[in-house]
Amino acid sequence: MQIVIEADIAVRAGIAADFIEQAVKRNPQAVIGLATGSSPIPVYQELIKRYRAGRLSFASAKAFMLDEYVGIEQAHPQRYRNVIEKEFVSQVDFAPEAVQGPDGNATDLWKACRAYDSAIAAAGGTDVQLLGIGSDGHIAFNEPGGSLASKTHPEALTQQTRIDNARFFDDQLELVPTHCVTQGLSTIMSSKHPLLLASGKKKAKAIAAMCEGAVSSLCPASILQTHPNVTVILDEEAASELQLAEFYRYRWQTRVEEK
Ligand code: GLP
Repeated sequence: MQIVIEADIAVRAGIAADFIEQAVKRNPQAVIGLATGSSPIPVYQELIKRYRAGRLSFASAKAFMLDEYVGIEQAHPQRYRNVIEKEFVSQVDFAPEAVQGPDGNATDLWKACRAYDSAIAAAGGTDVQLLGIGSDGHIAFNEPGGSLASKTHPEALTQQTRIDNARFFDDQLELVPTHCVTQGLSTIMSSKHPLLLASGKKKAKAIAAMCEGAVSSLCPASILQTHPNVTVILDEEAASELQLAEFYRYRWQTRVEEK
């Protein structure tokens, strides 16, 4: 894992946007994995800025979303599909149909999940997969205690996740859906470059467990330790419980860039 600790939000967003820009420039048909939550928003804003400046285009690219609530109304502003459309997709030049998300309203959820995994595999997997992390160590919506080898699947949300996400539902816990469909951990691990962003004290424990704890279903994000090409971009607070923080800073400053 390459761990970047950087106080300045603009610099963090710029580093993440650079990875996505490089992927799209290397291959205009690149496949980008999109995440919702607040962590990737500055990255989307940076990418929109670069698109408007004529620096990059998503016209031939594809994108896959990580997760979706089950049973949420099509037009609900917090339906992840609508969030990603508003925050990013509608503001750049993806072709129609180029962005897909798991279907949380399918009558046969398992069938829809299998079809979603097949679509990701048929596209060759994601070149870069943006990720956030839940305070309970989830990535996408893979909650603790699940299979480390899961494919896209329906999942029940933990009480902690629903409490964390109530802020998007007028702080009314009862309005937060109870279930979701999520890319599985093995789906996420099939990405060529998982790129996780986290900030704030609330994420410090989950980040320490993910980077330095045992690989365990108790912290689903810890599976990323077994991926050869992961980048984790943190602010000082999210990094505050890392034992080897000083070494990570040194390693990033003296890194050998791939040609
Ligand atoms: C939700 C999403 C996750 C996201 C997490 C963290 O639970 N399903 O994909 O990583 O929130 O969100 P934030 O970035 O807002 O802290």
